[in-house]
Amino acid sequence: MEICTSPEEMRALEAAAGPTVVVMTMGALHAGHTQLMDVARGYAGTSGRVVVTIFVNPRQFGPTEDFDSYPRTFKRDLQLCEEHEVDVVFAPDVEQMYPSAETSVSTIAITAGVLGDILEGVQRPGHFDGMLTIVAKLFHLTEPNIALFGEKDYQQLVLIRDMVHALDWPLHVVGVPTVRDDDGLACSSRNKFLSKSGRSQAAAVPRALQAGVQVAHRGTDAIVRSVTQVLHKADLAPDYVEVRGADLSADPNTGEARLLVAVPVEGVRLIDNTAVNLGEHA
Ligand code: PAF
Repeated sequence: MEICTSPEEMRALEAAAGPTVVVMTMGALHAGHTQLMDVARGYAGTSGRVVVTIFVNPRQFGPTEDFDSYPRTFKRDLQLCEEHEVDVVFAPDVEQMYPSAETSVSTIAITAGVLGDILEGVQRPGHFDGMLTIVAKLFHLTEPNIALFGEKDYQQLVLIRDMVHALDWPLHVVGVPTVRDDDGLACSSRNKFLSKSGRSQAAAVPRALQAGVQVAHRGTDAIVRSVTQVLHKADLAPDYVEVRGADLSADPNTGEARLLVAVPVEGVRLIDNTAVNLGEHA
């Protein structure tokens, strides 16, 4: 496995014979990430290469968010990458990705637009601009044919797809289903901040999503009511419970839609989502 720590090193790597498949992470790797690596290996085959990026991107954290305390487990991350047959790890530091001139003078960034202002964007203004900006930079540096992203961050996935489409990027974005622990909680690097009791409270989040799926044929109001009830029973107050079109459009009436929630538990903001089928005449 090659480890690159500078953009120059990354650029100097010769292209593989087969496809380059990238998995972007902020480290603190867990089963959701290793699943992405395994799927990536499948796409890359033996002649292609799997590139994992590890970079905690300051531009996607708000001033009161957890950039400083975000878990950093680099040694263990490298071990996991090695175990999952990753070919290249690209782990630059902040100064290399954002040289001082750029941070202090230039404000050039990708703008997420209206889809960046809904759902997570309400509580996290600017988050998706920062996220898309680093993803764009990492696309340039790793030059993938295929990029994999987890469906857990569904709004992120939709926005990355939109960016690739809008900017005619010659690569294919693939969404990979969310990996869950035994209690149903979606794997996330921030789960480790939960206490034992917070963790069992958090298990109400996937239960609530399932309750929404069960009543989806009755329409969006029934879904939101049902999800909210389960969360309230567990003493949880969601930041939002919303049903949107699969492309995040507002007020879907029929067919495949997406149920998305954000729920703070012990100060940890848990986000999760699932597909829901509203039927033909919701
Ligand atoms: O999902 C994440 O871990 C991050 O948002 C990403 C895509 C690596 C960009 O920093």
